[in-house]
Amino acid sequence: MRILRLRGKLLARHLPEVLALHRRVLGPLSQRRLRSVLRGRPRRLLLVALIEDRVVGYKIGYEERPGRFYSWIGGVDPDFRRRGIARALMVRQHRLLEKAGFRTVRSQTRNRYPGMLILSIRSGFEIIGTLAGEETRIVLEKKLGRSPALDGQS
Ligand SMILES: CC(C)(COP(=O)(O)OP(=O)(O)OC[C@H]1O[C@@H](n2cnc3c(N)ncnc32)[C@H](O)[C@@H]1OP(=O)(O)O)[C@@H](O)C(=O)NCCC(=O)NCCS
Repeated sequence: MRILRLRGKLLARHLPEVLALHRRVLGPLSQRRLRSVLRGRPRRLLLVALIEDRVVGYKIGYEERPGRFYSWIGGVDPDFRRRGIARALMVRQHRLLEKAGFRTVRSQTRNRYPGMLILSIRSGFEIIGTLAGEETRIVLEKKLGRSPALDGQS
């Protein structure tokens, strides 16, 4: 498995596959919506996991305020789960964020995504709140540049 940062030509090449995977994993997302969320956010990071040139995982986020990164969306192809792909994407993301000087990373998840919640907690995130709505969102934050994760694997 390889992890790539998508920019320029690589982004143009793999974006359709990323969107198709997102639709399978989390639901509809148009290229237009993706671009509109990322527009005006110079400090964004799009990572993909590739197996034999096929996109099997992705993780996308951006700086939401100075020093704080928001890990917006991500997922792994159902045929390739529990092989450490999401963990590898997260480890790479956090390493790059630390290098870029970010102090914290936040994300949100929901009860119906227990895998992400468990991976996040095991990777050093803390639950810092919830957002009420049609479906409660769990807000997670991790301080970067700190100790290894609780289970020592990331
Ligand atoms: C959550 C998701 C990204 C995990 O991807 P993955 O590549 O299978 O995860 P990994 O293999 O890296 O798992 C790492 C660890 O996370 C935890 N984990 C992952 N999926 C889990 C699950 N379904 N149940 C319980 N723990 C889970 C485990 O601790 C696992 O370690 P282990 O396999 O050694 O026990 C994937 O299941 C997915 O795409 N889910 C749907 C989309 C989603 O939830 N996106 C996030 C929305 S906020």
